[in-house]
Amino acid sequence: MYRILHKEALSEVTKLMVIAAPEVARKARPGQFVIVRIDERGERIPLTIADYDREAGTVTIIFQEVGKTTMHLGTLEPGDELATFTGPLGHPTEIENYGTVVCVGGGTSIAIIFPIARALKEAGNRVISIIGARNKDLLFWEDRMRAVSDELIVCTDDGSYGRKALVTEPLRELLEQRDGEIARVWAIGPAIMMKFCALTTKPFGVKTIVSLNTIMIDGTGMCGGCRVQLTDGAKFVCVDGPEFDAHQVDWDLLLARQRFYLEEEKLAVERWRHQCQLEAQLTAAGA
Ligand code: FAD
Ligand code: FES
Ligand code: MG
Repeated sequence: MYRILHKEALSEVTKLMVIAAPEVARKARPGQFVIVRIDERGERIPLTIADYDREAGTVTIIFQEVGKTTMHLGTLEPGDELATFTGPLGHPTEIENYGTVVCVGGGTSIAIIFPIARALKEAGNRVISIIGARNKDLLFWEDRMRAVSDELIVCTDDGSYGRKALVTEPLRELLEQRDGEIARVWAIGPAIMMKFCALTTKPFGVKTIVSLNTIMIDGTGMCGGCRVQLTDGAKFVCVDGPEFDAHQVDWDLLLARQRFYLEEEKLAVERWRHQCQLEAQLTAAGA
């Protein structure tokens, strides 16, 4: 069992948890992920290793409450335990000194881009970061991103904080203004954001890395659930990724496959809410 040691709300829908998982912490590197199960009957969900402390034997996860399992996870408290916490899985981010790099993080994925930006900075890169969210309330870790970036651009879709723009706007401007200077771009966020970042960088010929968030089940290359189509063939995100060259990804297929179980996911949330209501009524009735 894996005990929750600390819990923090980063925004109204984003939670951070520190989990006691010494074996995972010992081997974890930026860009890798874990597969979590809340209890023996729970579904398996992949979450990126947002941070780790080898000495303390802890791993930090950050998740957005989007459906049944992440909402359930969000109700757990320090002292509660997770049934499984499998990892580290996937290939770590390839960190080298590339020169000037741009790190783009959207929404909850600001947490995922942070350890990558930090590692790139430590490797001697000049790091320009762009973080964005739908609104101010969904933004977090501006201070942490600023600490590991030579330049930081903050955007919101609605203009409630920072620049009113989608992250692709400052990304395009940087590529136009610093032609030839930017060696590599990392773009991590919702698939639609990564798709448009890929379309933005492609005409400039700047290599762009994305971390793909396909549906995963086993996380070991056995089930095929996480298959993506690249220009050089089909790959499994769990064992071949999660990071890939953005210009090779068949984005429309990826977006369609992400929506494959929408009806079942909606029913699962309704059933879970109903069950929570019943439990609350029973508790109130002193049963
Ligand atoms: P549901 O209502 O079941 O699903 C909502 C949407 O999430 C679905 O439409 C689908 O697109 C996606 N999803 C559902 N089940 C899975 C699954 N088993 N595997 C992957 N996606 C699924 N989210 C975070 O908030 N923080 C992270 O650090 C993070 N890291 C990820 C790393 C990887 C390698 C991958 C593949 C995904 C990551 N995700 C992360 C996405 C996260 O796994 C999903 O949001 C989560 O599984 C949704 O589960 P749910 O039951 O709450 O929602
Ligand atoms: Fe099953 Fe990748 S999750 S093959
Ligand atoms: Mg689910």
